[in-house]
Amino acid sequence: MKTAVVILAAGEGKRMKSAVPKVLHRICGMPMIGAVLGTVRQMRPDKIVVVAGRHLELIRDAIIGPSPGSAIDSGIYSGTDAGGISFALQAEPLGTGHAVLCALPELKGLQGDLVVLNGDTPLVRAETIRSLLKQHRQRRNDITVLSFLAGNPEAYGRVVRDSAGNVSAIVEEKDADGEQRKITEVNSGVYVLSSAALRILDAIPLNLQKKEYYLTDIVSLAGKKGLRASACCIGLEEEFMGVNTRFELIRAAGLMRKKIIALLIEKGVDFIDPGLVYIDHTVSIGATTTIYPNVYLEGSTTIGRGSVIYPNARIKDSRIGNRVMIKDSSVIEGSSINDAAMIGPFAHIRPGSVVGRNARIGNFVELKKTKVGQASKASHLSYLGDAQIGRGVNIGAGTITCNYDGVNKHLTVIEDGVFIGSDSQLVAPVRIGKGAYVGAGSTITKDVPREALAVSRVAQQHIPGWAKKRRKKKT
Ligand code: UD1
Ligand code: CA
Repeated sequence: MKTAVVILAAGEGKRMKSAVPKVLHRICGMPMIGAVLGTVRQMRPDKIVVVAGRHLELIRDAIIGPSPGSAIDSGIYSGTDAGGISFALQAEPLGTGHAVLCALPELKGLQGDLVVLNGDTPLVRAETIRSLLKQHRQRRNDITVLSFLAGNPEAYGRVVRDSAGNVSAIVEEKDADGEQRKITEVNSGVYVLSSAALRILDAIPLNLQKKEYYLTDIVSLAGKKGLRASACCIGLEEEFMGVNTRFELIRAAGLMRKKIIALLIEKGVDFIDPGLVYIDHTVSIGATTTIYPNVYLEGSTTIGRGSVIYPNARIKDSRIGNRVMIKDSSVIEGSSINDAAMIGPFAHIRPGSVVGRNARIGNFVELKKTKVGQASKASHLSYLGDAQIGRGVNIGAGTITCNYDGVNKHLTVIEDGVFIGSDSQLVAPVRIGKGAYVGAGSTITKDVPREALAVSRVAQQHIPGWAKKRRKKKT
């Protein structure tokens, strides 16, 4: 093993005032620790150890997938390669120094360097860690701390340098004197440690104020033990923002959103107002697609080229093809919308639905587990659930599939070229044969043969002069 990474995630995160462990708070659709892991994985280390505390199982489930009975549906890496990630327990949060000690049993056989970083710095970039590692190796250091210049250094440990400019200590705000508090060079929480540095971890003294073993104290300890420590001031402040409070989480999410959208703009996506759009890490969008304000694109959503997503749409875990139009205020979840289809305004496409090429799903239409074939239309006010609809079908306004009998769900099959008149109810299970017509206002309870007309409404009668007589009675 040449390079390993330890991610510290065992802190209590008290400042979040939350029942959820801090590193599982979500940022642009992903738990914070997922963002850190994504970055770390780009470096292809031989091993990654996540140190977690009493929430270890929850954190492990969120990363590599749930163990039976877990409240989490799936982990970030479930189903994909979660190899190389292991977990170490820090039973009590006795500080960042103690947390690294807890990871050591997982790192037996490490010959090279250990990168340590905090699980609460989701914006850190792989290239910055790479250049830290490079400097560590070039300078033949035992300890290299990544530092940066902070506008407001209050939340960070200050990097104290001696008269020769060498780093002599890292001092936390709480422990700092007046002069030290003025220092703006601060500790990012990213370090590289050699094997020699790992051997002095257990000599870190207890911080008497906080009753913790601070990893940062390894810097002052290094001098006493004859090891080389230095601080590399690289990267931008934004990148190392630590998330300790909900305010900081909101700020970090804002910065991450900007990053995600900047990448998409570079790839050729158009935004009417990029500051008003919310897109998860995991979403991909093709060039020349336009996104209007107040759009939410979540989870594993992919959008093709030349599509337009109008205001107030929310699309989650769905595949949207090329030249698709999603009109205002539509919700699409777990579904697939094929090329040149038109959805909305005010459509609700629920999980398991597929809308074919050139199909049209109009206002106040709800689909659930329903397949709509090529060029078929349901333009107004319908509920289509558990239905298979062929090509070139016309679903009239107000059509309802009665798919639920109170116990079970049943299938409605509508074959190619069918015309369903407005305000019809199709009581499932039922099949409407190819090319058939259903008269408006019908309640269909039996299969309709191909090319037939089915009408089930009461025949219309006329009572001559009735209205006139009624008016006379009144006067
Ligand atoms: C820490 C650093 C500080 C640095 C800042 C950068 C220390 C003592 N201070 O401060 O110098 O400027 O990060 O963001 O290291 N954790 C554990 N076990 C513990 C305590 C913490 O695993 O017992 C984990 C936390 O989950 C967190 C990380 O370590 O991910 C940092 O802990 P936190 O309490 O947030 O430290 P800061 O006060 O931010
Ligand atoms: Ca922190």
